[in-house]
Amino acid sequence: MPEPHLTELISASDLADAIAKLAQQIDRDYAGQSLVVIGILKGSFIFLADLVRQIQTPLERIEFIRLSSYGSGTVSAGTAKLELGIAEAKIRDRNVLVVEDIVDTGITTQTALDYLEAYRPAALKLCTLLDKPERRQVPVAIDYLGFTVPNVFIVGYGIDYDEKYRQLPAIYQVGEV
Ligand code: IMP
Ligand code: MG
Repeated sequence: MPEPHLTELISASDLADAIAKLAQQIDRDYAGQSLVVIGILKGSFIFLADLVRQIQTPLERIEFIRLSSYGSGTVSAGTAKLELGIAEAKIRDRNVLVVEDIVDTGITTQTALDYLEAYRPAALKLCTLLDKPERRQVPVAIDYLGFTVPNVFIVGYGIDYDEKYRQLPAIYQVGEV
């Protein structure tokens, strides 16, 4: 398979600036409190790693959950399946902040939020690096947002195309602009 052409959409330094601002917002909102951070694997792992290093609010724990959309490639299927969950005791009555790479159709993120909400956290908020609103099928309330992106296929900074390109330090669009 030939390598697709990649066009940079968001530079590494713009990512760093946005993440510093997100961390400031989070610190302001949770002043005097502590947080449980839950990353949604695998796409959020680099964003989460950079974000938590900018957050001053005490973190009780960092956990991960994993969901898979049925199907593969660039098209998400209609439902998401929980592949790796978390014990209820780690969430109940806690301030939970979910960290996501991209909200696209919204199906994965909303499935994750519904799953966590059932464990009755004190508060449940969502921080996503990217939002692709044109593709939304299910409404998702985003509390902290890095960037809105157009309806193009994104890779880099943790986000993959067929598991590749997660290692890229910036966000790229697959194909020519
Ligand atoms: P959903 O469509 O909102 O359920 O998104 C499900 C997952 O699809 C996201 O968490 C990403 O891992 C992946 N995804 C959505 N849009 C893109 C993209 O543009 N590039 C790569 N992966 C994507
Ligand atoms: Mg993916």
